[in-house]
Amino acid sequence: MPGKLGKEIEELRELIREHDHKYYVLAEPSISDAEYDKLIKKLEKLEAENPHLITPDSPTQRVGKDLTKNFKAATHKVPMLSLANTYSEDELIDFDRRVREALPENEKIEYVVELKIDGASVSLNYSDSHLKTAATRGDGFVGEEITANVKTIKSVPLKLNHLKSIPFALKDFEARGEIYMNLADFYNLNKEREKKGEKLFANPRNSSAGTLKLQDPQIVAQRPLNIFLYSLISTEEELESQIKNLEILRKLGFRVNPEVKLCKNIDEVISVCREFEKKRDKLDYEVDGAVIKVNSIAQQNILGSIAKSPRWAVAFKFKAKQAVTQLNNITWQVGRTGAITPVAELEPVLLAGSTISRATLHNFDEITRKDIREGDKVIIEKGGDVIPKIVSVVLSERPSNSKGTKPPTKCPVCGSQIFKPEEEVAYYCENSECPAQVKGRIEHFSSRGAMDIEGLGEALINLFVDLDYLKTYDQIYDLKEKRNELVEIERLGEKSIDNLLSAIEESKKQPFAKVLFSLGIRYVGSGAAKKLADHFASIDEMINASAEEISSIHEIGPSISSSVKNFFGDKHNLKVIQRLKEHNLNFISELKVARQTPFMGKTFVLTGTLSKFSREGAEEKISNFGGKTVSSVSKETDFVLVGENAGSKLTKAQALGVKIINENEFEKMLEEAEVK
Ligand code: IVH
Repeated sequence: MPGKLGKEIEELRELIREHDHKYYVLAEPSISDAEYDKLIKKLEKLEAENPHLITPDSPTQRVGKDLTKNFKAATHKVPMLSLANTYSEDELIDFDRRVREALPENEKIEYVVELKIDGASVSLNYSDSHLKTAATRGDGFVGEEITANVKTIKSVPLKLNHLKSIPFALKDFEARGEIYMNLADFYNLNKEREKKGEKLFANPRNSSAGTLKLQDPQIVAQRPLNIFLYSLISTEEELESQIKNLEILRKLGFRVNPEVKLCKNIDEVISVCREFEKKRDKLDYEVDGAVIKVNSIAQQNILGSIAKSPRWAVAFKFKAKQAVTQLNNITWQVGRTGAITPVAELEPVLLAGSTISRATLHNFDEITRKDIREGDKVIIEKGGDVIPKIVSVVLSERPSNSKGTKPPTKCPVCGSQIFKPEEEVAYYCENSECPAQVKGRIEHFSSRGAMDIEGLGEALINLFVDLDYLKTYDQIYDLKEKRNELVEIERLGEKSIDNLLSAIEESKKQPFAKVLFSLGIRYVGSGAAKKLADHFASIDEMINASAEEISSIHEIGPSISSSVKNFFGDKHNLKVIQRLKEHNLNFISELKVARQTPFMGKTFVLTGTLSKFSREGAEEKISNFGGKTVSSVSKETDFVLVGENAGSKLTKAQALGVKIINENEFEKMLEEAEVK
């Protein structure tokens, strides 16, 4: 039984939970921020004085201090399906027909129409009224456990107070929903990132999903995430309908989107979809459509699902938002591969809540196809991404003196010659040292899907390249030697440089597939990089492989394989890889290593003169197969490899009882590791 103090603390927690619910879920606070802060301070003080009384569901425990090393896999009890998309009224009518055909004749069918929130879906698992785990969707069957990050979202209840208000026990249940960012918060976050020279998030969805995958819950806590719950799953209780489930979620204290409509037939559904589409611009968060769900859970169960999506629900996608503006001029951007891409510089116009002043024009063919000219009035559209595109030209408003657009004649950045490969649409700058290419390669290397160096975004890279600190991406790992100079650069300062340097060190943990992707080999996207990394035990194997072996890998075609050969055929690239190896980046496939080598995670010391290997050769083999070599023997050493005339290291190994192997035994280990 809790003592008097325990009770007092718990009452205080209850009170804070009530205020959290009022503030974060209902948006109806009943006390001032100052009064609220006082309650929190009081609780913090009591807990600090009585640490044994701290409980994980206390409002003070939302922000964990521990970094998550790797997210654990979380298997969904019920798969998290995705929705089939519809784009027209006819497709909605088809959906309704399919639903009616699958259910007994003349059965009453109701639909619930909800907003389709454009964020990241999440599964919250509650047991005994406490949040136990939270997980991402992943591939629908297995997601990643992101509990520590989700706990930082104040509208997610850690403890449920209102279980009694519903007619079920609900001991174990799952609530699913969408984690998203308000538009204003998203723009502010990007503004902050721009100031710090960090890479911008393309849209609120990416920024929510990216935030949820951060390893440090303290940073997550500073990001303005929010949540709407839209699905209740219980394997114990027989739930009746979606509309009631939403009500139950609301009663339990969850945030549920208020824009929900129960419809008696598909005509009503269609008019609600149109109504929602009109409301879309007034919302302060991004939605990309409506979701239509069969209301009755019994009917949902009869309908079941096909492959990845249920038969009882469908998404109705809203049209991309459009605006008309003037195309002032066309500029040409040079990317990391040297490809020259046209960009439309627009008269700034407000579209979907943000001011648009640029749009991509993809390539010169697109300009020709749509006959886009400087001075034209153009219709622009914004889909899911922040980068808008030009849909068409308003020909009736074309100025009489307008001239057709011509492709560039030389590189717009370095003035070098340009060329256009026969089979491609793009023009290329032929100078691989072109500053735009250099910056592009480094930016790609550092980007989130690649080495994921938090803080090293476009602006900072431009600065470092212009100041000659970076020419190739391996030099990122030499920046720490320059710390004293870097902190003197205006705007940067000690703290941001130290954060950057530790993010750079942290990136060395990225797995082989990511490192491979980061190299920026043409046509090797993240998927292909993963397949290559799964096939080859190490980069050295890949470098030595024939084009045939590479293209024999499932889903790796001849263009990837010849591009890989080309890349490794370039001495300059090999030098960069060598330097990255010296910086201890992962050039070994974890999958292979974990499966087959006796070197994985082991520490070696080499002593004496080896006859079958050079010292460097042996060290390289050890490292290729997942081990490392250190110079002195300690209790932590796993193997001491001894050659002729071994000296004090051998004696020390014997004294410490470390395993001693000779070259023959070492060879055996290598053979074992090399078997595929
Ligand atoms: S229902 C099987 N309801 O859209 C039912 N999903 O492709 C699937 N989403 O992954 C979920 N708002 O992340 C549902 N009101 C809503 C939604 C919603 C957004 C997302 C969800 C899902 C994706 C469907």
